[in-house]
Amino acid sequence: GKSGYDHYMLKEIHEQPTALRQGLSGRLDELSGEVTVDELDTVATPETIHFVACGTSYHAALYGVELFREAGVPAQAFLASEYATGPAPVPENGLVVGVTQSGETADTLSALREAQGRGAVTLALTNVVGSTAARECDHALYIRSGPEIGVAATKTFSSQLTALNLLAETVTDGATGSRDLVAALRDIPGDIQQVLDETTAEEIVDEYRDNESFFFIGRGLHFPVALEGALKFKEITYEHAEGFAAGELKHGPLALVTRNTPVFAIVTGDGERARKTIGNVKEVEARDAPVVAVTDGQSDVERYADHVLEIPETHPRTAPMLANVQLQLVAYHMADRLGRSIDKPRNLAKSVTVE
Ligand code: M6R
Repeated sequence: GKSGYDHYMLKEIHEQPTALRQGLSGRLDELSGEVTVDELDTVATPETIHFVACGTSYHAALYGVELFREAGVPAQAFLASEYATGPAPVPENGLVVGVTQSGETADTLSALREAQGRGAVTLALTNVVGSTAARECDHALYIRSGPEIGVAATKTFSSQLTALNLLAETVTDGATGSRDLVAALRDIPGDIQQVLDETTAEEIVDEYRDNESFFFIGRGLHFPVALEGALKFKEITYEHAEGFAAGELKHGPLALVTRNTPVFAIVTGDGERARKTIGNVKEVEARDAPVVAVTDGQSDVERYADHVLEIPETHPRTAPMLANVQLQLVAYHMADRLGRSIDKPRNLAKSVTVE
């Protein structure tokens, strides 16, 4: 059942600390700062890596790409539906990772079969033990999120990001992270709990309930979260929402920005990327757009924001997970205000088994 929550989606948002603890259990060695994942013992360091996925899982894949690139392994993410129908650019001596919560998504299975047919080593990053992807791939890495009933993927996305860190650490021999990352992963369930306990997402949505178009912007690892924030929002509120790389606004989308288009901007840290995103925030503010900053308070973005959704300070790898939880809550509470069918949005299915 829903354990007292109004919807499975809200229950599953609140299950994230537990889901991530399960996903990390026995896989982090805090003393040595090492990551050990038994399932990955026999996976060699690939020369290149491709991710294939759909929807939310594709956003997780975009995040995964960055982790491998940081470790010096060329990586690309593909929409599974495109990978399978075009001349698939399967890499030689490469690893093809299907990111699929259900392990049953037809487009992702086709892409993996195509890759396998061309001689690539395949790995399923999935939540479901014994799923088709898990059975057909050479390797499987389980995200251990527990069952997700709501059509909108929430806890499984967070579990995917966590597992992608484990994959990158293990397969690149710890070249991507450090003891700091292991410590941040250990703390992430508690940090998410803090966001859940202290969020003000429910309070801010009322002000925007009459708006019909919403934008989400972020840079670097926050770009996939901007895309995911917009997908979740459109999927359950039925309002128009789009995510952009913050720097792309001025290349077209800025034409849509008015006082009627709230912009959610993810800004953490106080580095180059934060400064540049704040520059983009100023551009939308100058067009009178309402700004909601999702931030850890390390920069002065709050000065340009109408509302702030705060997240605790953490490692740059884990900050996107915290920002995402705030955006999940924004989508949920807005959909709830609008009386939408949150757990079963119109036209959508939990598992898409047709191409
Ligand atoms: O089971 P999968 O991860 O392969 O599903 C892929 C997408 O259909 C899925 O992530 C979808 O975008 C989400 N349910 C949207 O919230």
